[in-house]
Amino acid sequence: MPRGARSATGGAGTAAPLVPTHPSLPALRAAASACRACPLWERGTQTVFGAGEPGAVVMFVGEQPGNDEDLAGAPFVGPAGRLLDRALAEAGLDRRAAYVTNAVKHFKWVARGKRRIHQKPSPGEIRACAPWLAAELAVVRPRALVCLGATAAQALLGRDFRVTAHRGEVFFTSRLAPIVMATVHPSSILRAPDDETRRAERAGFVEDLRRLAAALRSGAPEAPSVPAGP
Ligand code: URA
Repeated sequence: MPRGARSATGGAGTAAPLVPTHPSLPALRAAASACRACPLWERGTQTVFGAGEPGAVVMFVGEQPGNDEDLAGAPFVGPAGRLLDRALAEAGLDRRAAYVTNAVKHFKWVARGKRRIHQKPSPGEIRACAPWLAAELAVVRPRALVCLGATAAQALLGRDFRVTAHRGEVFFTSRLAPIVMATVHPSSILRAPDDETRRAERAGFVEDLRRLAAALRSGAPEAPSVPAGP
């Protein structure tokens, strides 16, 4: 492990020393596969890096891989991913033209019986992983960046950003991408307490994605030539 990747206390350090100087997505993926910048690598099956191509029109950022993603090694392939795919299709967006990733690249969980139960990543773990996300953003240079849920929004837009107050708003002035939006996390829709609430939340999510599609059609400018980190 390169020096400086992990703090002397054994807690969350930073992935920054591991990021290649002239990164490409394959080089980033290979470097991240050996990341030990925070203790989550010990619990996860593997690093789950982003999926998609450089130049993808939209980059979606979730929180962290779930159980299915941890086993498959790919983001958003479980129930939340299927909901995302269908909502994108309803909004006229194609997941195959998107880059999909997470703020944290390892699954954080605790055992409950035979099940692995998701745990929220800590601010230190999110910070440790942030250099991977910044590098993905710099290589992909999407026209639109979409934060799915509070963890991604706070990692990219600041600790004070509230998805509840600003979901679905289209921001054209961010230094991160020409179009920036935050909306709810698909998992929060799946966790809705009853069918009626779930239907309403899903409809709101599709509506946010339709607003994103309209902003893309409106011809927002190209990605900035010097993309910024989170
Ligand atoms: N939830 C996330 O935030 N990311 C995934 O990849 C899957 C579920």
